[in-house]
Amino acid sequence: MVSFGQLSDNPAIPARSVDWQDDALVLIDQTLLPEQVRLLHLKAYRPVVDAIKRLSVRGAPSIGVAGAFGVAIAFRELQGDTDGFSRAVNELRLARPTAVNLARAVDRVAANASGGFDVMLKEALAIRDEEIAASWSMGVYGSDLLIELGGNRPQRLMTICNTGGLAAVERGTALGVIETMLERGLLEEALPLETRPLLQGGRLGAPFRLIVDSAGPFLLSRGAADAVLVGADRVAANGDTANKVGTFSLALGARHAGVPFIVVAPESTIDLDTPSGDMIEIEDRGAAEVVAVRSTTVAPPGTDAINPAFDITPCDLITAVVTDRRVVRLDLGEKLSEIPHGPTRGHPPSDRR
Ligand code: MRU
Repeated sequence: MVSFGQLSDNPAIPARSVDWQDDALVLIDQTLLPEQVRLLHLKAYRPVVDAIKRLSVRGAPSIGVAGAFGVAIAFRELQGDTDGFSRAVNELRLARPTAVNLARAVDRVAANASGGFDVMLKEALAIRDEEIAASWSMGVYGSDLLIELGGNRPQRLMTICNTGGLAAVERGTALGVIETMLERGLLEEALPLETRPLLQGGRLGAPFRLIVDSAGPFLLSRGAADAVLVGADRVAANGDTANKVGTFSLALGARHAGVPFIVVAPESTIDLDTPSGDMIEIEDRGAAEVVAVRSTTVAPPGTDAINPAFDITPCDLITAVVTDRRVVRLDLGEKLSEIPHGPTRGHPPSDRR
């Protein structure tokens, strides 16, 4: 079975992009993929902050889980230094600002500090397990919706960024849905955008026809896809969605072409405390990532750049938000604050916990 987003035909890749083993946070260093598979074993919190900032670990659920373990590590490392621990918690929660999962998971583990390291670790493990369960459930909810919208026939699905297991500990968000469609015999073709500047989509490690980011809307207008599926870093209460830059133009293209545009994100990414997308901080990652691609310079020396890592897709361009517990049809006027949660569906194939 081909697995999208995990490069899992490579046996050196562990089943989980983020995990806890032998008293350490273990991460696949995603900056080196696909050429090299290297695991980072982190036992101090500053390298965890650094790994999140450098995108060694990336994708909203995965950075949330890494931050959760980072808090427990900081507590163990700082041994009763209350001020130092508060500073560490702050550094971890601010390592990347856009994905709500990070601050939320960090705060949740830090709130257990009175219980000591073991209680905090238990909370971090619970967050990991919740994300794993969520990632499998989204695949079921999302593929059922695609069948409802497009019929029980193989579909061509466009996507952006790497929203597979690397981004969501296991399985994935949007890519998890695409993989579920593949397993159900209902995937005709996956069309990932390469996702400049860091090429997350170009490094999926799965069969697809890769397209340059700027080709997405045009190809949609030529009928190349039956639906667009994207992940999210934060979904505001009104449904406005922060996700990898380029998502907004895909949504505009999908609207023009009349194809569904579906956001797939776990409940841990839904932020009802943020009323709308204009309140979401968008991370600017600086010029260096734009003027060089994987160490190769692509612009004249001294070129400046604007590098928003994410954009905001307005809620009125979104057909539905699919989570691990529900489908909210924004196109039918449904609201995230009103649609109740249902059960988690599907489950990891083997219980490795
Ligand atoms: O900058 P990244 O690679 O962390 O951005 C990741 C994305 O934008 C994903 O689409 C998003 O986190 C949702 S999928 C888990």
